[in-house]
Amino acid sequence: YFHWHLTEDQGWRIEIKKYPKLTEIGSTRPRTLMDWSTREYDETPHSGFYTQEEAKEIVKYAADRFITVIPEVDLPGHMMAALASYPELGCTGGPYEIPCEWGVFPDVLCGGNARALEFAKDVLNEIMDIFPSPYIHIGGDELRYNAWKESPMVRNYMKQNKITSPGGLQVFFTNNISNFLASKNRHMMGWNEITGAQVNDYQRDGSGASQQQLAPGTIVHFWKGEPELIKETIEKGYDIVNSYHIYTYLDYDYESIPLQKSYEFNPIPEGLTEAQQSKVLGIGCQMWGEFIPTVESMNKKIYPRLAAYAEVGWTNPSNKDFDRFRNSLNSFIGHWEKLGIQLGEWK
Ligand code: ACM
Repeated sequence: YFHWHLTEDQGWRIEIKKYPKLTEIGSTRPRTLMDWSTREYDETPHSGFYTQEEAKEIVKYAADRFITVIPEVDLPGHMMAALASYPELGCTGGPYEIPCEWGVFPDVLCGGNARALEFAKDVLNEIMDIFPSPYIHIGGDELRYNAWKESPMVRNYMKQNKITSPGGLQVFFTNNISNFLASKNRHMMGWNEITGAQVNDYQRDGSGASQQQLAPGTIVHFWKGEPELIKETIEKGYDIVNSYHIYTYLDYDYESIPLQKSYEFNPIPEGLTEAQQSKVLGIGCQMWGEFIPTVESMNKKIYPRLAAYAEVGWTNPSNKDFDRFRNSLNSFIGHWEKLGIQLGEWK
C-alpha cells in the first residue's frame, strides 16, 4: 500500500473539480520557514498539485505493480489551505492565510458547520472516483479545539446533537464521514486521535473525553501515545496499522531512528492474544516532507530504512537478524544506485 497524504495546512495538492480554488489558491504559499531557531524564510513561493488525470496515472502505475494507493484527506484539522481558499468552511468565516511555518494551527474545518461536512463529502466523492482503494484515510490527527470552543455555531450544534465535548464532536464528525464512506463500500482509516484518545497536550484538558463510539469497521492508524492504546483499540474491535512515530517516521534523522532501531521495531505490542495479534494489519512508515529540501536528502532518509521496515512487516520476528540484514543491504544499495538513487553517506 502506498499511503498518499494529499492535503496539508501549507498546501493542497490534489485537483478537486467542484472546488477549484483549493488548487488555484490553496496550492501556493508565498515562502517557507527554513529554520525555527533563526526564523529565516526562503522568500520563494512554493506551489504545485496533481491533476486528477495525473493521480490516476499514479494509481495505474502502482496497480500494475500490485500496490494499492490509499489517499489521505486530513479532516478536520490541518485544513488551513482549504480555509484560505474557502473561508466559509471555518468557524469565523476568516479570512485565513496559508501558513509558511510548520506546526498545528488553531483554525480548523468547523465541526458545527453543515457546509464543512458537505465539503468533506464532496471532496471524498471525487477522491473515491480517482482512487479505487477499499480504504480511504481521513487523517483526524492533531485537532486543536480552540475554534470550536469559541464558536456559538458549534456550541449550538453540540447541544442539538447531545454532544458534551469537542472530542466527542470530533468522533461525531468522523462517524458521519465513515458512514458516508461505508455507504460507498469503502472503509475509513484515520490516525489514532479518531478514537477520542487524547494523545496531544493541547487536547488534555478534559474536553477531549468522548462519549461517542467510533464506527465499527474503522482502521485505526496508531502513531502517537502509549502502545497500550493499541490493545485498548483492538479490544474495542478495531484493526490497527502501527506507525508508532518514534520507530517509523522516515523524516526523523538517523540520530533519532538509527537503522538498527528501525529494524528492531516490533509492531505487535506485548500482551496481545493470538486473535488480537491478527488485528494488527501491518506497519506504516512515513515520509513527511516539511524539512526535506531536495530529493537527494529525502532518499537518504528513506532508502536504507525502507528495507528494514519491509523486513519488520514481512518477517517472523524469530527470523530477524540485524547482522544478516546489514550484510545483505550492501547488494540492495548497489541495486538502488543502478536505479539512480544515490545514497552516498546516508547516516
Ligand atoms: C502525524 O504525524 N501528525 C500523523
